Amino acid sequence: MHDLTRRLPPSAFHYLGGELHCEGVSLSEIAAKVGTPFYCYSATRLRERYRALAAALDPLGVKIHYAMKANGNQAVLSLFALEGAGVDIVSGGELNRALSAGMLAERVIFSGVGKTASEIEAALKAGIHQLNVESFEELRLIDAIAGSLGLVSEVVLRVNPDVDAETHAKITTGKKDNKFGIDIALLDRLDNEVKSLEHVKLVGIASHIGSQIMRTAPLIATYARLLEVADMLKGRGFAISRIDLGGGFGIPYENQIELSPTDIADAIATTVAGKGYALAVEPGRTLVADAGILVSGVTYVKDAGHMQFAVLDAAMNDLVRPAMYDAHHDIVPVREPVPGTQMTDYDVVGPICESSDTFAKRLTLPEIKSGDLLAFATAGAYGATMSSTYNARDLIPEVLVEGSRWATIRRRVPIAEQIGWDRVPDWLKTV
Ligand code: LLP
Repeated sequence: MHDLTRRLPPSAFHYLGGELHCEGVSLSEIAAKVGTPFYCYSATRLRERYRALAAALDPLGVKIHYAMKANGNQAVLSLFALEGAGVDIVSGGELNRALSAGMLAERVIFSGVGKTASEIEAALKAGIHQLNVESFEELRLIDAIAGSLGLVSEVVLRVNPDVDAETHAKITTGKKDNKFGIDIALLDRLDNEVKSLEHVKLVGIASHIGSQIMRTAPLIATYARLLEVADMLKGRGFAISRIDLGGGFGIPYENQIELSPTDIADAIATTVAGKGYALAVEPGRTLVADAGILVSGVTYVKDAGHMQFAVLDAAMNDLVRPAMYDAHHDIVPVREPVPGTQMTDYDVVGPICESSDTFAKRLTLPEIKSGDLLAFATAGAYGATMSSTYNARDLIPEVLVEGSRWATIRRRVPIAEQIGWDRVPDWLKTV
């Protein structure tokens, strides 16, 4: 049995007086106030992660654009905006969220393979820093919209370097057959395409090959490729001044060793740094994952004869990563186990009516009972943002802790309120 708290950063989560705390606040106290399940983030840890990466990248002149899809809560965005971060967005909705949290438009990068005309228009009107273009079709649309607004839009081309990120297939984006970016082999078309468009100006290139990357080799291959392409395009007369290196830096959920700020900085230093290009990265997960946990109640311990199920009140709609990517999250009891506590194997499951609502199989945990609280580690990234209301469940609260203070940063959205979002047409009304 591994150390239960190995994935909980001590500056954020630790046992105090027999109870798991987030910084100075007891999690069972928060649970009593907001109900379970809920997400809980440590402000101190979020800042610590940002500052460690910034300290490694600042000397190389690399700007950080936080990929807010990992955690787009307004409070989290405000915290990073105060740190001076920019943001990477992938929708008009994220543009709204970023701006309303105080992110500066001139620090916004807009990525994504399917930007709609209205999203492009909103981005141009807001005056964002950079549109990362993923196809010639999109380039023409941006040209038309910029023209109608009387603007010239600076654009960056997202290229597909055909590098294997060596990660889960569902989060690999840099192979030729992935829908993302423009195949480098097609860049010959640029001379005709870009030079005929009057309202776009190509100023850089970008790439993002995937998420949860654990080795520097694929990053180094990508960055080196980007430098080659940038130099090649410059040679062809394009005024390329920026390279956006994407995100994807992996963190340990289990036994892996994280890609540290120094690893990332070294990969950049040995490839693209100091070559005359303005550099940016788009990290999401690495900044927020270990600063967050999901706290769940145990509804039943179901004795199935040959095995035990721990049936929680959290479900796959609250944290979908295990069901969707077979992802592992360490599970930690909120009440500190006393020495000598009996260890038992559990399948840890949610209440949703499908078997994929399983968080862990045959997990050895200190004996648990109904009414206990459990915390899922490393749940600050792609947890709340990927949640849904499947099975007519509430959207659960998110809480931010700093020192001895805490605040609900998203309230529960109860099902009664969600029912009010539906409309029954007159001809079907029964009540
Ligand atoms: N930039 C672009 C263009 C991206 O598509 C992504 C993530 C990022 C940056 C940030 O990647 P990160 O640094 O967080 O690895 N839902 C999945 C992860 C999907 C990532 C999608 N794109 C998960 O829960 O593992």
